[in-house]
Amino acid sequence: MIAPQTWSPERYEKHARFVSDLGMPVVELLAPRPGERILDLGCGDGVLTGKLAALGCDVVGVDASPAQVAGARARGLACEVADGERLPFAGEFDAVFSNAALHWMRRPDAVIAGVRRALEPGGRFVAEMGGHGCVATIRSALAQALAARGLDAAAYDPWFFPTADDYAARLARHGFRVESIVLFPRPTPLPGDVVGWLETFAESFLVAVSTDERPALLAEVRDALRPTLADAAGAWTADYVRLRFAARRDEVTP
Ligand code: BEZ
Repeated sequence: MIAPQTWSPERYEKHARFVSDLGMPVVELLAPRPGERILDLGCGDGVLTGKLAALGCDVVGVDASPAQVAGARARGLACEVADGERLPFAGEFDAVFSNAALHWMRRPDAVIAGVRRALEPGGRFVAEMGGHGCVATIRSALAQALAARGLDAAAYDPWFFPTADDYAARLARHGFRVESIVLFPRPTPLPGDVVGWLETFAESFLVAVSTDERPALLAEVRDALRPTLADAAGAWTADYVRLRFAARRDEVTP
């Protein structure tokens, strides 16, 4: 089984704040109206949940990480620990919103079925996630470093980065009308060294080796990535690809 990702609020603040900073276009695509009931799926520490609340929405956040939910609650938001592949809601929301979370859920059909259940007929599912080819350079450097140690990275890889066709077909199969879906590269400047990114986001690969071995693994991956992802001044940019979509639940019940 792939080791679950854990989130440290301090590390997240230092190395991952850009995730919510770059999430406003998804909020705009959602076009939330005051009074709408919205589920924020994979709400993290609640920064975007708070923006939806500030726009007058009646918003509930869910996240699999108790530490992130505690952070969101500390902002005064209604958030619960929940597994996105087993959402516990039925016909309660006008819209489900998700930013940078769905690629951590490797059973997309279970996620989409749960989103459909959570929505009212005609409700919206608006999201952005990592898409096909996301962090391909980083993923392949991790795979190579693990292979050099006789390990198969596929057994540690926590990410699901679908193509637009793949995700659109799944949405349609689960009774959604896809209104827009687009895959686009978004090279993402990192706030610090790529090692900080790896420690924050790639923990599931790092735990493949002992804690003693980890600094050597990180140094090797960093060396492999530097020619492609660092500039002459030492600033790092990750090769993100995003999949952004808006879909509407059919009117048929259940
Ligand atoms: C993201 O949060 O968008 C992300 C996280 C890990 C790998 C790639 C993308």
